[in-house]
Amino acid sequence: MKVAIIGQGYVGLTISVFAGQFFEVFGFDNNRSIVRQLNSGISHIEGVESSVLQKRIKDGRYKATASGSDITDVDFVVIAVPTPLSKGRQPDLTYIDAACRTIGENVKKSVLVINESTSFPGTLRNYIKPAIEKYSKSSVEHLYAISPERVDPGRGDYNQKNTPRLYAGLTAEASEKTRDFYSKFCDNLIEVSSPEVAEAAKLFENTFRQVNIALVNEFAQITNALGISVYETLDAANTKPYGFMKFTPSAGVGGHCIPVDPTYLAAVAEEHGAPATFIRRANDVNLEMSKYVVDRVQADNGGLLQGKSVLIVGVAYKPNVADVRETAAELVINHLRERGAVVSWHDDVVGTWLGENSAPLSGADISIVVTKHDSVDEKAIVASAPYVFDTTGKVAGAKGL
Ligand SMILES: NC(=O)c1ccc[n+]([C@@H]2O[C@H](COP(=O)([O-])OP(=O)(O)OC[C@H]3O[C@@H](n4cnc5c(N)ncnc54)[C@H](O)[C@@H]3O)[C@@H](O)[C@H]2O)c1
Repeated sequence: MKVAIIGQGYVGLTISVFAGQFFEVFGFDNNRSIVRQLNSGISHIEGVESSVLQKRIKDGRYKATASGSDITDVDFVVIAVPTPLSKGRQPDLTYIDAACRTIGENVKKSVLVINESTSFPGTLRNYIKPAIEKYSKSSVEHLYAISPERVDPGRGDYNQKNTPRLYAGLTAEASEKTRDFYSKFCDNLIEVSSPEVAEAAKLFENTFRQVNIALVNEFAQITNALGISVYETLDAANTKPYGFMKFTPSAGVGGHCIPVDPTYLAAVAEEHGAPATFIRRANDVNLEMSKYVVDRVQADNGGLLQGKSVLIVGVAYKPNVADVRETAAELVINHLRERGAVVSWHDDVVGTWLGENSAPLSGADISIVVTKHDSVDEKAIVASAPYVFDTTGKVAGAKGL
């Protein structure tokens, strides 16, 4: 059986190497340099080992492609393209639309189309199916299903095999085929009654994280005003064995999911006349954390940052990955530069970002730790500047939230 996986990023490539154990996979991506790199056996995604990719290629189970002619006779299609926000912070389905066009124009026989991209309830039924039918050059009818992706890039303990997976088809036949497809490489499949339930569940999972992160970020400001340690207080609360889940404060949220997905939920809620004030406020609290951090640093440094050299330690959105999408580091840097600070950053996992290179971990007036990779030495951070502010709670001897 052949599978086309549209989009070869974090989600698509991860699925490709798992599915490649059982299917012949065509990893379709419209970025030709990614396609070239993948076909030479080099993975660009944390958690996908190049050696595994090379094995799939050698076994004839994986080929990256940007050519529609490679996917005309596949049996399954998985959509794993970005679902970002537009400039006006509205759901942006242009990548989904382009993927639908690729499918409609190229896939010639009846297939099961599974969407793994995160989007609002109704996307499969009201958007993907009609779009593929619109672009299709034949009268062929496809089956449609959703199975939202839960991959956590860089995570070792949970993967495609042991992370429970939700799914639902638009028809019973689509559901059954979806189960057959994933059961090859996922141990725990949970069917829900409609695609909309699966789509909404995915958004709620990430909204749950977003609002709890916002809550703890606000709590960090409260404990600071009260003169007590947020970390000690959270550890104390966490001794309760039920009804509490510990989240930790930070300079804000980053990545493709937590800053984005709740806004998809809020947008669809408001479109249907339901309030989403809690989600909107949580988003604002998380965005405002970068300013709060810079305010704290400024207050500790004589109220003036003009001309001070400030080193941001860690610009990836989370530890041990090179992903900088929506990183809070960018907001922190913007606030610092607006106040006249001379900002550089150290992150050898990221290397190069926004046309700048990772700077040495030394010689600054002020260091602010936004993300602490395991590979970065704690003592070297403390020695990098006379004043170090840590937003992660991981650097002993630094000032912190
Ligand atoms: N990254 C995560 O941790 C994660 C987790 C769960 C769900 N998701 C969701 O999965 C989806 C994909 O996210 P991602 O992190 O894999 O994105 P990504 O940016 O890592 O990868 C997307 C890939 O799709 C390619 N692409 C874009 N448009 C295309 C098109 N029309 N045809 C073919 N390829 C195209 C891009 O070149 C890129 O390689 C999003 O909806 C995201 O919200 C992501």
